[in-house]
Amino acid sequence: MSRNPLSTSFAGLKLRNPTALASGILGYTAESLQRVVEGGAGAVVTKSVGAAPRMGYANPTVVQANCGLVNAMGLPNPGIDEFVEEIAHAKIILQAPLIVSVFGYSAEEYALVAEKAVAAGAEALELNVSCPHVKQTGSEIGQNPRILAEVVAKVKGAVQVPVIVKLSPNVTDMAETARVAVKAGADALTAINTVKAMAIDVDTTLPVLSNTRGGLSGPAIKPIALRCVYDLYETVETPIIGCGGITTWKDAVEFFLAGAIAVQVGTAVALENPNVFHAINRGVKAYLKKKGYGSVKEIVGIAHRA
Ligand SMILES: Cc1cc2nc3c(=O)[nH]c(=O)nc-3n(C[C@H](O)[C@H](O)[C@H](O)COP(=O)(O)O)c2cc1C
Repeated sequence: MSRNPLSTSFAGLKLRNPTALASGILGYTAESLQRVVEGGAGAVVTKSVGAAPRMGYANPTVVQANCGLVNAMGLPNPGIDEFVEEIAHAKIILQAPLIVSVFGYSAEEYALVAEKAVAAGAEALELNVSCPHVKQTGSEIGQNPRILAEVVAKVKGAVQVPVIVKLSPNVTDMAETARVAVKAGADALTAINTVKAMAIDVDTTLPVLSNTRGGLSGPAIKPIALRCVYDLYETVETPIIGCGGITTWKDAVEFFLAGAIAVQVGTAVALENPNVFHAINRGVKAYLKKKGYGSVKEIVGIAHRA
């Protein structure tokens, strides 16, 4: 039994606790990622980076909903050639695994960005095949089994680090997408990215977001994400990282019970503060003790015994 009840591992990555920063929250700098590790995160995922710089959409790109955020940032990013410096710096200062999120418009582009990210120091990659609001990438790739398989296989052939595939809930059958990703070589799956959504301003009578449609995150999507993780656990044997609306230790425990080996936290970091990881970890540790478990790994998937 491990002495640290929170330590976990998946796909060859070792984490001192089962929480990670979700992609896209808190910008791109190594210092902001370090702030999250100081706040208790066991790993960090960077914002998604592509082959070339992208401005993203004009403001407004984020709007607060009742129980979360609707965002359509448009994947703003400096491009991998500039971002490699930040990856290299983060690799030196971070005391937690650095997972770089990548996107592209073709399998070749995903592989190119992946190779550069790994050469700069990425310890694992997360493939964003699930962004709901940018054309010809993200969920447009994740929704097409042939292209998805090509992207995953090409990246796997190009790098030697674990490759995590981040899935979209905006599909008819997520299990099918997961099977395709796993067959093509995915070492782990993250579920879920944001859920397609929008907001309308009753004064202007127009959509709020400049892109009209965006993706909903935060507590509103937690039950959806939880159901996705539960279903995936019954579909594949690949490690699953739960993501979607996790704010408290109880949320995190629900995801472990459903089958997640670790969880990512996004909106709660943006709406509260980076120390939310400490609070989640403290609560999970107390729960394990109270229930008599020696390790968080012991509770993964146990809701399925019913
Ligand atoms: C402002 C914002 C930006 C995001 N940017 C990305 C991104 O660049 N890449 C990605 O894979 N997911 C991105 N996401 C999705 C999150 O990583 C996460 O999957 C989603 O928000 C659900 O988790 P949460 O409810 O904890 O935020 C973004 C989410 C938000 C709110």
